[in-house]
Amino acid sequence: MSLLFSDPLPSRCAPHFLGEDVDEATFAEVRQILLRRRGFDLGMYKDGCIRRRIAARVRAKGFPEPRPYLELLVRSDAEVDALIAALSIQVSQFFRNPSTFELLHRQVLPELFRRLRLRGCRELRAWSLGCAGGEEPYSLALLLDQLVPPRMKYSIRAADISPAVLARAREGLYEPARLGSLPQGWRERYFSAEGGRWRLHEQIRRQVSFEEHNVLADQGPGQADLILCRNVLIYFSRAEQERVLRTLAACLPPGGVLVLGRAETLIGESRELFSILNPAERVFLRLGPEEAGTGPGQGAT
Ligand SMILES: C[S@@+](CC[C@H](N)C(=O)[O-])C[C@H]1O[C@@H](n2cnc3c(N)ncnc32)[C@H](O)[C@@H]1O
Repeated sequence: MSLLFSDPLPSRCAPHFLGEDVDEATFAEVRQILLRRRGFDLGMYKDGCIRRRIAARVRAKGFPEPRPYLELLVRSDAEVDALIAALSIQVSQFFRNPSTFELLHRQVLPELFRRLRLRGCRELRAWSLGCAGGEEPYSLALLLDQLVPPRMKYSIRAADISPAVLARAREGLYEPARLGSLPQGWRERYFSAEGGRWRLHEQIRRQVSFEEHNVLADQGPGQADLILCRNVLIYFSRAEQERVLRTLAACLPPGGVLVLGRAETLIGESRELFSILNPAERVFLRLGPEEAGTGPGQGAT
């Protein structure tokens, strides 16, 4: 169905020629279109670079001013996807910040398996939110492939707001630069060369299931023992970061683990819901109801 007529634009006005970034009115219209069509609210993102990225997208489509671009955005699903992809930086790498994965390998994952076993649970459930091209959840799958104890299993679900990036993630085919921090020998062990790129073996790819999810939604992604949400919150306003952190806390049982990106941390009331397991690596432990209020916000670590 064409959305050209069901989603009308405000009446025409004089063109705004494009500069480094788009003007207030264009930003407001783009925001409305994305909100109506995808529930994607730009108002929740930090303003600065978003306008510059919209302008870059207008230019990339060959328009000298925003009006024809807005008309394209109203009628083209593909352009809505392309714009959302362009607005959310989708850079990632296998084992990005290797010391964080080192900590997961050495301490966090073995301890999670130990506690699950004590509780009589046989499955570790992990989420990777804002998973980009799959580098992060697949890195976790590679670790778990090595670490999973006998008679235990694991599931990894990975989500992103961008369908385009999820399609790429499912393919599991990477430029050499994306493999950056793979441990010695793992490229040859887990990947096959394919036309100058590297395809992750199917045996690891099938351990991760990918789905579309907006972390800004009120509803959390689902229950988990471990959540990686790295380098996603940085794009949101402070109020939204705090709200997302509370939503994520609600998905974790006491003792569940949250891993944020290096430039991210707990904010406001969310500080009372976690203790700090490792401050440098941004690893936090979900507190139980009787412990809530003893988190870092209350001075305990
Ligand atoms: C910089 S990448 C981070 C990738 C990976 N987590 C890492 O640290 O390497 C940010 C990812 O978050 C996704 N993203 C942005 N806003 C989102 C939202 N509201 N809900 C879910 N994913 C989002 C982007 O599409 C992008 O793939």
